[in-house]
Amino acid sequence: MKIMKLSLALAVLIIAPFVASSSMNFTPTRASSSKSTNPNNLPPEALLSVSHYMKTCPDAEAIIHRRMRAWINKDPTLAPAIIRLHFHDCAVRGCDASVLLNHKGSERAALSSKTLRGFREINDIKSVLEKKCPKTVSCADILTAAARDATIFAGGPFWEVPFGRKDGRVSLAKEAELVPQGRENTTGLIKFFESRGLNMLDLVVLSGAHTIGRSACLAFQHRLGKTPDRSLNVTLLNVVRKKCKTAYSLVDLDATTPKKFDTMYYTNLMNKKGLLSTDQQLYSDKRTSSFVSALGTQPHLFESQFAVSMINLGNVQVKTRPRDKGEIRVNCNFVNA
Ligand code: HEM
Ligand SMILES: *[C@@H]1O[C@H](CO)[C@@H](O)[C@H](O)[C@H]1NC(C)=O
Ligand SMILES: *[C@@H]1O[C@H](CO)[C@@H](O)[C@H](O)[C@H]1NC(C)=O
Repeated sequence: MKIMKLSLALAVLIIAPFVASSSMNFTPTRASSSKSTNPNNLPPEALLSVSHYMKTCPDAEAIIHRRMRAWINKDPTLAPAIIRLHFHDCAVRGCDASVLLNHKGSERAALSSKTLRGFREINDIKSVLEKKCPKTVSCADILTAAARDATIFAGGPFWEVPFGRKDGRVSLAKEAELVPQGRENTTGLIKFFESRGLNMLDLVVLSGAHTIGRSACLAFQHRLGKTPDRSLNVTLLNVVRKKCKTAYSLVDLDATTPKKFDTMYYTNLMNKKGLLSTDQQLYSDKRTSSFVSALGTQPHLFESQFAVSMINLGNVQVKTRPRDKGEIRVNCNFVNA
């Protein structure tokens, strides 16, 4: 029974990258074979394209790449920060750079956004692009490409980024508070992802971004108390307790190989060494555990599926159609006047 379930999961995992990437290729076919050419009838992500800026700003992607390399060379901790910033953007009102808006009561002002970083770097890239091709490249596209580049510089896989996202005009702190923060149960995580068009495989694969980066103690403090969480290795528990001097002390999410973009995150979960309880539960929950063991034992599978799931993440509720009322922001911090 267990073996059957596992082999089913493996089949899904082996096939999924191909299914997902071929459905990417089929998107234009689906678009043209649709009865109407009215873009309002297409799924919004079908209007994204890798050649979106080919005529209007051919150097956009190269400029983003070069600026990201410079920033990450100076401060390698920016790579995980930018990947997380992209997730928090897409998780609220889709990938529309709403997380970057800097006004009273915006997502950025939420408690759950307190430890987000990378705003200055995205602004820097935006100002370079505004000089080169004014009012052309959206902040949402910049952040999406920056997250891909951050992944590469961290040692992760490459993928082609489809472009054409417009920036949103609405950003509300109370919506940002709904982004998972480390204390949710797996049902909550699955629901959160599914309501954004992401499945359980995407959930487990994208959580693999926690193979790099750090967490404030606040997110897992509840596991360290008088009756500590027994699903956390005791040696690690004691190490982490010492490191958590304050709620905002930082601890590596991957306790074993914190700087390597590898599958150790999954191996850790199999050895009770997941730092966040949300991560650890992916291995104790029957719905997600076989994905964890498959990814933990097959690095090439993680690489190829991470690329596919990141494209899926970058497609979430994108504003590409007239009715979505998006704009190309001039300054990522503010909506256009
Ligand atoms: C599945 C639900 C998720 C939960 C519950 C979660 C939770 C967290 C928490 C609590 C932190 C530490 C934040 C802090 O220090 O305040 C964190 C960091 C991070 N998360 Fe997630 N996360 C999730 C999904 C994702 C996804 C989908 C991605 C990207 C694909 C991602 C990428 C990251 C990265 C790279 C960091 C490290 C940030 C840094 O070092 O600056 N997370 N996450
Ligand atoms: C999961 O969390 C939700 C929301 O907090 C709660 O309503 C539900 O009862 C929890 N489910 C389990 C199985 O603990
Ligand atoms: C916890 O981790 C330590 C250090 O990696 C290891 O030596 C120990 O065997 C682990 N404990 C358990 C109960 O697995």
